[in-house]
Amino acid sequence: MTNALTLTKLSSRYGQSQVLWDIDLDVPKQAALAVIGRNGVGKSTLINTIMGVHKASGGTLALDGTDITRLSAHHRARAGLGFVPQGRHIFPHLTVLENLESGLAAQPKNAPERGKIPRYIFDLFPKLATVRSRKGGVLSGGEQQQLAIGRALTGHPKVLLLDEPTEGIQPNVVQQIETALTTVRQELGLTIIIVEQYLDFVWRFADHFCAMDGGKIIEQGRTADYTAGDIAHLVRV
Ligand SMILES: Nc1ncnc2c1ncn2[C@@H]1O[C@H](COP(=O)(O)OP(=O)(O)OP(=O)(O)O)[C@@H](O)[C@H]1O
Ligand SMILES: [Mg+2]
Repeated sequence: MTNALTLTKLSSRYGQSQVLWDIDLDVPKQAALAVIGRNGVGKSTLINTIMGVHKASGGTLALDGTDITRLSAHHRARAGLGFVPQGRHIFPHLTVLENLESGLAAQPKNAPERGKIPRYIFDLFPKLATVRSRKGGVLSGGEQQQLAIGRALTGHPKVLLLDEPTEGIQPNVVQQIETALTTVRQELGLTIIIVEQYLDFVWRFADHFCAMDGGKIIEQGRTADYTAGDIAHLVRV
């Protein structure tokens, strides 16, 4: 079976400073891959380079066996990548519904009920229905995170990229996010790549992991073969 995503010698730099070094990574279809590591090791740069919001300086990237290295972020979204950026980046002056609608442009041509927000998003996050007319900027952090995930799901992605979705979020909302991600993975067969420092959560959720340091993958495997305690030293400052 082809992998959902294959990274081959993917590299990235900011100006003269190289931040990702020849990353090779295979993500099997329907896997939930946790990307872990200390602050500043390149986790967000990896996710942003996969999404195409930051341009790779070298290497290639394939989605379902098709090379997407030269596609813009918008076209990668149309090809099946959904993105929940670190810090959420919802539109503060747009309503919840308008924020969700901003994700419609990523829907593929053959999407079911194309042009509509998928109804299951409100089943996953009932709170979004009750605050649908509220401006994004006045929502709580937990509501904004649910909105950011809902917006990414609006495009019917095949692969969902999440960058620290539990950062600054209360435990009850973390629980809702875990339940929602587990549901979309099981029921929609999504592949999920999740950057996360909250190990207890991500070790329950993910079946694969890779640990980064200095812009490289220094360890990878199946989460079942390690306890969260085994790898905690790779995350601690
Ligand atoms: N826009 C930028 N311009 C220049 N350097 C940057 C930029 N963004 C990130 N960097 C640098 O690249 C390195 C990797 O940053 P990145 O944000 O990918 O790390 P991270 O692992 O996501 O960290 P965190 O856990 O704090 O989110 C850091 O040294 C950071 O200072
Ligand atoms: Mg980051």
